[in-house]
Order: sequence, then structure tokens, then C-alpha cells
Amino acid sequence: MPALNATALANSNIAFIKYWGNREETLRLPANGSISMNLEGLETRTSVTFSGNGQKDSLTINNKSITGPGLKRVNDFLDLVRQMAGINACAEVESKSNFPAGAGIASSAAAFSALALAATKAAGLELGEADLSRLARRGSGSACRSIPGGFVEWQVGTGEADSYAVSIAPPGHWDLADCIVVVSSEHKATGSTEGHALAGTSPLQFARVADTPRRLEICRNAILQRDFDAFAEIVELDSNMMHAVMMTSRPPLFYWQPSSLTVMQAVRSERAKGLPVCYTIDAGPNVHVITEKTQAEQVAALLRTLPDVTEVRIASVGGPARLI
Ligand code: DP6
Repeated sequence: MPALNATALANSNIAFIKYWGNREETLRLPANGSISMNLEGLETRTSVTFSGNGQKDSLTINNKSITGPGLKRVNDFLDLVRQMAGINACAEVESKSNFPAGAGIASSAAAFSALALAATKAAGLELGEADLSRLARRGSGSACRSIPGGFVEWQVGTGEADSYAVSIAPPGHWDLADCIVVVSSEHKATGSTEGHALAGTSPLQFARVADTPRRLEICRNAILQRDFDAFAEIVELDSNMMHAVMMTSRPPLFYWQPSSLTVMQAVRSERAKGLPVCYTIDAGPNVHVITEKTQAEQVAALLRTLPDVTEVRIASVGGPARLI
């Protein structure tokens, strides 16, 4: 058979209302809905080539050949694509990201959304946005939110068919920026997939999940009305609630470093003085400081003066995953 090739680009995203815990692990059906924004310029480019030549799938990330569990995860995902397309050819996957993996910047989100788009195109499928988002979800939950553009909500859904992400506002709707404060670029000890599986062992997870529709509504409205004060309060509450679940699961997961807390306190104190800033932290020690784009350089300069901060990267609101 002739080689079938496609290349796609997807942005990472930062969640304002977090996904933590699955009600069904294999299908990655989330315990709760979530809201995020795509991060312009924090991107993964992935090429997929299906051909009859190979014996098995191959994967390179940033020119490094990947084997073991990393390859297995991509292999399982490609099986879904092969099944949908009715093909059995092996694939060569080459992926390049321009940000560090495994340090609280959702690398799997950009990776699996770019892979979903490139692999389906290379396999001859033309999927719409909702179907692509559902497929990306199977690779990594947060990846479903990197398929649509701008501000995005992943609907909890009633099952496999209706748990996918939709755009709630385009990138130009609100000029926010994420100042990503790197305090450590070490690979995190417990990856999110293992973390999700522990969420249910925390006595706090039930309350967090039960309260999510309320937080989603407040966050969605704050975005639609560009109300930074309401937005800041709900985003920090949601991040704190997820970390409370993490810290109280069995075994407990502590993702913060002392320097993460220093950044959080500085952000709260600057907001009290009138600067539009708030923090949110994923499954890693680095802090995402959200602000208005016009203030981003000033906020980044301030954050760079804090102890242990090695880098601050600014990302504005990003568009959807696309073929290149
Ligand atoms: C803390 O999507 O990385 O970033 O589905 O196992 O790949 P897998 O998990 P992943 O989990 C993201 C967790 C989070 C919160 C969020 O992005 O909503």
C-alpha cells in the first residue's frame, strides 16, 4: 500500500476547572466536567505515516526513539484509529514539542490532540470536531480540550458518545495570558493517569465532584462576562480543591514545592493591591499565573524576582488543533 501521511499541530491547555478522577478508566470518562483555555505557542507537531512496511508502530519524541510504556500508550491509541478506518498498517509517529514534558505543563494534552488529528487524516478519515475530541480523550483526558479553539468546556456527558469538548468562546473573546512559572523542570513523581486512579480514595473527592456544576457555571459566566474578580476567585478555589483531594488520597500526592506556595502567596497579595492575577496548579510544582495580556510582561517581571523561579513563559489564548 502507498504510505499515507499527515502532520498536525496542537496547543497545550490550562484548566481553570480541573479534571481529576475518572468514572470509567478505559474510556477516560471523567468524574466531572472541566473548563480550560488553549495556550498559544506551547505546541506539539506530530507526523503520522501509515505504511505496509513496518512490523510494529514506532515513535520518536523530540528526535528520541521511545519504547516501553510511552510507545504502548501510542500503540493502543493507534489501534483505535486503525479500527475506525478498517486498516491494519503500522505507523511511524514523529512528535516534537517546544515545552518540557511532565512538569505541570500538560504535554499529553497537546500530544494526543495532535496525534488524533494527524493519525485520522493519515488513515483517510475525515472526523468532525466533536468526534476528534472524543477520540483524543481516549489518549489523554485533557487532550479532548485541545481540539477546539479558545476557551473550552469538556462536557462530563452521560457516556462515551457525549463526553467531548466544545469551544465556549473564541481566542479573541478575552485577552488573557498565562505566565507559566517554572520552579522545577524535573519529571513529576506520579503522572496524572496514576493520580486519577487515586482520586476516589480521598474522602474529599465526593464533595469536590458534587460541587463541580456550581463551579463550572461560575467560571463559564465569568469568562463570558470577562469578570476577572469572579474568575480569579473560582479558579483558585478549584485548584485548591483538586490539590486538597490529591493531598488526602491514599497514598497522598504532594505536587507543590515550597516555591510553589511562595508564588501563590505573592499572587494573592498582588491581587489584593489591585493587579488582575490569579494562580492555578496542575499535577506538578509549576504555577500558572493568569492575568490580562496587557499586564503579562509586568507580572512576569515580578514573578522572576521570586526565589527558585528559573523561567517564566507567557502564553496567550490559543486556537484549535490544525493540519499543517
Ligand atoms: C491536573 O489529561 O493528563 O492537568 O487522561 O491520564 O492523560 P490522562 O490525564 P491528564 O490529566 C490532567 C489533570 C490536570 C487537570 C486538567 O488538566 O484538567
